[in-house]
Amino acid sequence: MLTDWKRYSSANRAAWNEVAAIHKKTRPRDLHQFFTEPGASLLDPTETAILESFGLAGKRIAQLCCNNGRELISAVNIGALAGTGFDISDEFIREGRELAKIANADCEFVCADIIDIPEIYNSSFDIVYITIGALSWIPDLDTYFGIVSRLLKPGGNLLVYEHHPVTYLLPFEDKDFSPGGLILKPEYSYFNKEIIEGQGLDYFGFSEYDASKNYEFQHTLGEIVNSVIHAGIELLELNEYPYDIANGFKWAEDLGMFPLSYTLVGRKK
Ligand SMILES: C[S@@+](CC[C@H](N)C(=O)[O-])C[C@H]1O[C@@H](n2cnc3c(N)ncnc32)[C@H](O)[C@@H]1O
Repeated sequence: MLTDWKRYSSANRAAWNEVAAIHKKTRPRDLHQFFTEPGASLLDPTETAILESFGLAGKRIAQLCCNNGRELISAVNIGALAGTGFDISDEFIREGRELAKIANADCEFVCADIIDIPEIYNSSFDIVYITIGALSWIPDLDTYFGIVSRLLKPGGNLLVYEHHPVTYLLPFEDKDFSPGGLILKPEYSYFNKEIIEGQGLDYFGFSEYDASKNYEFQHTLGEIVNSVIHAGIELLELNEYPYDIANGFKWAEDLGMFPLSYTLVGRKK
């Protein structure tokens, strides 16, 4: 299993490194400018309220698959004591360090495959935070949430804020797509276990470039919840929302009929 994990994660590392420079041009916000503002946060009201409900003051927060740390830096800016971001992409980790410096936020960025996070981080965090587009890169959720559990202090909180697995059934936004005439023909089965091969990761500008292959894994909501429970994390709350946090289902958000995102809150026993 470890060999499979590594085979996919090393291909994905290359794919994420490749898109880093493209995201800088296509994303809607200049993050280098944004984080010059003291206390700047791009977290939305849903995740802000949950993080604040943990009581951020004095808390150490870790983000797994943190990308360039825009969310982690925001969490520190709204009151956490310090942040540690883990990501496999050298390029995004480099950018995270730059942004934290600009924001003057106490954040450390560690370039590592999640499966290789060193044991020195065990029981180090009051909060582990996982957001938008992290879980689909993970071949084995029991292993992943086992690592989450070893990073948390006893009594520490987990927040997962992700796009809903039902979005696998829905067609992506497309200029020829008309929601008025929607006949639902699922893109994938909800229970699909085939590896999803992609080429290109510019989910801001949808630009095409000479991209290497990347590999994603589909998990049902039940599998996600079960892996959290198997890891010794008590499930406190699971909420579903009609909000498109994946930047691909605006049409479905307008209809307001689909679960497009969810929050899962847990506590390490
Ligand atoms: C969609 S991005 C996360 C975006 C972030 N939530 C945000 O909104 O800015 C997914 C991240 O997962 C990272 N990743 C994928 N597989 C990983 C692995 N095995 N270990 C660590 N990071 C991984 C990628 O490098 C990428 O930065």
